[in-house]
Amino acid sequence: MPRYDKIVILTGAGLSAESGLATFRDEDGIWARYDYRDVATPEGFERNPSLVYEFYNMRRHDGGTARPNPAHYALTHLQRKHPGEILIVTQNIDILHEAAGATNLIHMHGDMATMLCTNCDARPPWIGDLSAELACPECGLTGGLRPNVVWFGEMPYEMDRIAAAIAACDLFISIGTSGNVYPAAGFVAGARDAGAHTVELNLEPSDTASYFAERRHGKATEIVPAYVDALLKEEAR
Ligand code: OAD
Repeated sequence: MPRYDKIVILTGAGLSAESGLATFRDEDGIWARYDYRDVATPEGFERNPSLVYEFYNMRRHDGGTARPNPAHYALTHLQRKHPGEILIVTQNIDILHEAAGATNLIHMHGDMATMLCTNCDARPPWIGDLSAELACPECGLTGGLRPNVVWFGEMPYEMDRIAAAIAACDLFISIGTSGNVYPAAGFVAGARDAGAHTVELNLEPSDTASYFAERRHGKATEIVPAYVDALLKEEAR
């Protein structure tokens, strides 16, 4: 009988940092170089769509060459070996969880491997550069394509499914996220209310660290595989 039946894992930019992808709020992070209002809001896109296309085209290039690191693989290993349910909810738009073989996964802030057509709501796969001149492969209209990324002021994807999983989980693990952005930053409180054990795995204490029952701080490539190993060993006893 596993100690935990239903596990929810929340991941953020810190998980992919050692794959070479910049985080947002670290000293050399993305928000030190860009104003989020320009590149991550619907208003910014309306003001200067070229800048927004360029920003996400660049991130798609960086993401295209990045490879999953041992922390991504450890989470996939946990998904395969753990006898109960595991849902990974990522705030990351990179597709490194998929590249590592993860299965039950929600991209709550969208992903860089698809685009969004505001004319027909389709989210077709896309790996090249995105621009205003492109036609949607689903409806054929031009001018409505944007990155399939949830911006500030927009509702993250699949919130009903995430809320149901958190309300039912008995273990909640948060990895590589600063706890700055809601609703994700509020998941730990929901998991506590549900009676779940809560664990933070992060380089340093996050803004919501005090909400977690257990905290381990260090590099994701070290602390995530170690945590997964310990959990699986404990469950095998
Ligand atoms: P942040 O940049 O806010 O936080 C990253 C966290 O990862 C920080 O707490 C770092 O200390 C930690 N970290 C850095 N390197 C690490 C490593 N090697 N191992 C473990 N932890 C490490 O990124 P997120 O919390 O993911 O949203 O940001 C949340 C959302 O804010 C993003 O999805 C994005 C952003 O604005 C949108 O763009 C809508």
